[in-house]
Amino acid sequence: MIEILTRMLLIMFPLYIANSSAMLFGGGKPVDFGRKHKDGRRVLGGGKTIRGSALGIFFGTFTAYIILSYFPHEARMNIGQYYLLYGFLLSFGAVFGDMAASYWKRRKGIERGMPVFPLDQLDFVAGGVGLGLIVFVPGIVEFVLLCILTVIFHKLINFIAYKIRMKKVPW
Ligand code: CTP
Ligand code: MG
Repeated sequence: MIEILTRMLLIMFPLYIANSSAMLFGGGKPVDFGRKHKDGRRVLGGGKTIRGSALGIFFGTFTAYIILSYFPHEARMNIGQYYLLYGFLLSFGAVFGDMAASYWKRRKGIERGMPVFPLDQLDFVAGGVGLGLIVFVPGIVEFVLLCILTVIFHKLINFIAYKIRMKKVPW
């Protein structure tokens, strides 16, 4: 049980930091540079910016670096000796998975910021853990728990962000 919890935390921190720093520090030039498909719809939309993506990857990886400095034993015992690389893969995959979901949403004609449950909550988890498989294959129990907890946390954090006026909509 304690192993599952430790492994989950080692996965959750880089993932969540990557995802929330994109939200906190995003802005500026969009990744798709405003490009549109022939049908007039944006490729990714204004919610995926270069700064948000780059800082998401950076802070997510940096989180793994901090964890590795303070808890080298736990990180190596539970994830393996490539925890820093794992943190990078989690962060890169999280940003990429979130973009893939936006691409899909725009193709379906769903406007930027419109909620799609549970895609919005789980796109970054799937992307991060998916890419991370190169280094670490999590157990099914911790993966399912991770998804359930993420849906709950995501709702909670977005609601708080909305309340303190960091986000215009509560999702
Ligand atoms: N963000 C960013 N770059 C990213 C991801 C997110 O700048 N790669 C920022 C944007 O300001 C975005 C906010 O974080 O508006 C929230 O992210 P998200 O909910 O994923 O984007 P949405 O605006 O809801 O757009 P979409 O409908 O495409 O998901
Ligand atoms: Mg959204």
